Amino acid sequence: MSTLFSALPDAVSIYGVWPRDGLGNEAAYVTTDGKRRLVDALIAAGLLRIEISSFVSPRWIPQLADAEELAKRLEAPEGVALSALVPNQKGLERAKAAGLREVAVFLSASETHNKKNINRTIDETLAAYREVVAEGRAMGLRVRAYVSTVWGCPYEGAIDPKRALGITRELLSMGCYQVSLGDTIGVGTPRQTEEIVRMFLAEIPTEKIALHLHDTRGTALANIVVGLELGIRDFDSSVAGVGGCPYAPGAAGNVATEDLVYMLHGMGVKTGIDLDRLWEAGRVAEALLMRPLPGKVHQAGVRSLRA
Ligand code: HMG
Ligand code: MG
Repeated sequence: MSTLFSALPDAVSIYGVWPRDGLGNEAAYVTTDGKRRLVDALIAAGLLRIEISSFVSPRWIPQLADAEELAKRLEAPEGVALSALVPNQKGLERAKAAGLREVAVFLSASETHNKKNINRTIDETLAAYREVVAEGRAMGLRVRAYVSTVWGCPYEGAIDPKRALGITRELLSMGCYQVSLGDTIGVGTPRQTEEIVRMFLAEIPTEKIALHLHDTRGTALANIVVGLELGIRDFDSSVAGVGGCPYAPGAAGNVATEDLVYMLHGMGVKTGIDLDRLWEAGRVAEALLMRPLPGKVHQAGVRSLRA
C-alpha cells in the first residue's frame, strides 16, 4: 500500500486574495479605510502576499474603484508583497503609479467566460498580455497570472485542461513568475485535481504553479491535499472564505484561509501565519461586509479548538 503524506513539505506559501476577490458580488460597500484595516489585520497575522485590489474598469467593478487610494494608504513592511489585478496597459500604468511592485494578469480557459469577464477573446487577451507583461517587467514589477475556469465553466461546462496548459505555457514564456490555476466556480473533485495537477507538473516546475480554489461545493481542501501530495507549494485563499466572481454566476468564496491554515498546521506544514490573529482578521472582514461569512474555523472559533 502506498504511504500517504510521506512527501509533505515543511512549509508552503499562502497568497491572500481578499479584499480583491469577490467584492464585486457584495451588497455592502466597503470603504477604503475598511479595506485598509483588513489588509493591516492580515499583515499582522503574518500573511506575506496579499492581493489588495484590481486596477480594472470602475464601470465593471465599482467596489474596487478606490485601488489607487487604498494602495496609497497601505504600508507593506519589509518582506510583504502587495499585489493587484491588471487587465490591460491602463491597469498596469495605474498600478505602477500607485507604487505597487507586483501585479497579476488574468484570463480564462473558457472563451465565453473570458469574453464576459474581460470583453476579449482568449487570443486577443494573450496578444495584449505579451506587451503588458513585458512592460511590467521592464518597470521592475513582478507579474503573476491567473487562468480561470480550469476545472469547469459556468457557461461552457467541462473545459479540456489542455487549453489551460497551453495558456499557462504562454503566460510563463512572457515572463510571469507564477500561474495560479483557478477553480473559479468550485466544481473540482480530487481525482480531477490529480489529473490536472499531474498534467501541469509533468512539464512545469512546481514553484511556477499555484492553486486558486473556490469552495462552492466544499471540495477545495480535499483538492488542496491532492495538490500538496503531488508537489504544489503555493495556495491562494481568502480570509473567512469571502470571494467569487461577478461574471461567474454561482461562484462562492475561495477556500477560507483560516481553514487552510488550521489543516496545514495540523499536518505539520508551516505557513508563517498566526491562526489567532488570522481569526481576528476574519472578524474585521465580517464587520465590513455586515453578514455572516462562510469559513468553518471562522465560525467555530479558534478557542473552541483548544478545549
Ligand atoms: P472594455 O469595456 O472592453 O474596455 O472593458 P475598453 O478598453 O473598451 O475601455 C472602455 C473604457 O474603460 C474606457 O473609458 C477606458 O479608459 C476604461 P472611457 O474612454 O469610455 O471613459 N478602462 C479602464 N479604466 C480604468 N482602469 C482600467 C481600464 N481599462 C479600460 N484598467 C476591461 C475591458 C478589461 C477593462 C473590463 O472588462 C474589466 O475591467 N473587467 C474586469 C473584470 C473583473 O475584474 N472581474 C473579476 C476578477 S477575475 C476573477 O474573479 C477570477 C480570478 O479570481 C481567478 C479565478 O477565480 O479563477 C482572478
Ligand atoms: Mg477567484
